[in-house]
Amino acid sequence: MRPAEVHLIAAARPNFMKVAPAYHALRRQSWCRPVLVHTGQHYDEQMSAAFLRDLELPQPDIHLGVGSGSHAEQTAKVMVAYEKVCLERPPTWVIVVGDVNSTMACTLAAKKLCLPVAHLEAGLRSRDRTMPEEINGIVTDAISDLLWTPSPDGDANLLAEGVPAARIERIGNIMIDSYKLMRPRIEATRTRERFALAARGYAVVTLHRPANVDQPGTLKPLLHALATVASCLPLVFPMHPRTRSRIKEFGLEGILAATPTIHLCEPLGYVDFMGLVREAGMVLTDSGGVQEETTYLGIPCLTLRDTTERPVTVSEGSNRLIKLHELREAVAAAQAAGPRGRKPDLWDGRTAERLSASLRRHLEAARADRRAVAG
Ligand code: UD1
Ligand code: UDP
Repeated sequence: MRPAEVHLIAAARPNFMKVAPAYHALRRQSWCRPVLVHTGQHYDEQMSAAFLRDLELPQPDIHLGVGSGSHAEQTAKVMVAYEKVCLERPPTWVIVVGDVNSTMACTLAAKKLCLPVAHLEAGLRSRDRTMPEEINGIVTDAISDLLWTPSPDGDANLLAEGVPAARIERIGNIMIDSYKLMRPRIEATRTRERFALAARGYAVVTLHRPANVDQPGTLKPLLHALATVASCLPLVFPMHPRTRSRIKEFGLEGILAATPTIHLCEPLGYVDFMGLVREAGMVLTDSGGVQEETTYLGIPCLTLRDTTERPVTVSEGSNRLIKLHELREAVAAAQAAGPRGRKPDLWDGRTAERLSASLRRHLEAARADRRAVAG
């Protein structure tokens, strides 16, 4: 029998470390041919190509090249381009990951063509519908056939939304698979030495949420607060392109330039970034994935958000949600407390293996159904 063609959809930075372990696991299977589809939502070298290299992924088999745009523009461009791909050569299954615009767009396009879709990292909810990711997650989960969750809260959220239990499978957190796959290279990097910093003697900062960076009235006090923290703890701040362009647009470069202990740099590749985080004293962030990676590593994480779609990082891990006015006190408390938390269940580096076994079961069940219908 011909191997089943399975599309793996990658689009933006946080997708690559979810797609890579799945791609590598499926590539080893005789029953499956993974096809890497890149929508082009992220396109800068340091937001895309660097991750393909670091995570040992090939050049995408299919590149949709959609680029940036408003939410509707970007979503629509991905839908139009991906529909064409699916019409030309329909895949047997589609795997989408995370909660970016391309995740929802590819799911909509595929489901309208009645193609089966599996969502990896399903069920995560912040309950904040002003976040585009929340809308993307709700829509994707409502129409996907198979929902792979990373933690029990994901299952509970889906059940509460009326998703049948038979569609939900908890397979764990695939981000940890990427970390484990790349661990020898991550541990060999000395990214902090580039900035002449001592192990645990600095914090890593990542910020890109529209709620933090899109309004000058929010971004300006945030940068001032970072400058205050940097007077007692050096910061390394690999800057997301959205944040860089907002700082420029609002004329706020001076705040950072006046603080020599804030080390600004381009977004880092996966291996360099994880090497920097691994040796940090703490992380200040609004990222989703970074909350999980710090929990896995036991590195204190202060998340500048009101909500999180990853509550186990707070209840079990090293994450704390803070408001800006709490930042200084929270940094001092994290410095005093040091590493903390435990690794949640199934964050064990074997999620891709469970994903592959699950997909195979579903493919075989569908084949058995078709044989039964054919008589
Ligand atoms: C997107 C995701 C967000 C995710 C984040 C990870 C949505 C709605 N948002 O947010 O969930 O947390 O990625 O990083 O899908 N830009 C560049 N170069 C690039 C990519 C973007 O310069 O390679 C700039 C463009 O000006 C663009 C802006 O960043 O307009 C925002 O990019 P976009 O993909 O729309 O949203 P993100 O903020 O990156
Ligand atoms: N990351 C990286 N370099 C950076 C910043 C982030 O390699 O400079 C990685 C890191 O593994 C993180 C992932 O990108 O978990 C997620 O990226 P981002 O914060 O952009 O997206 P989110 O998880 O918030 O959707």
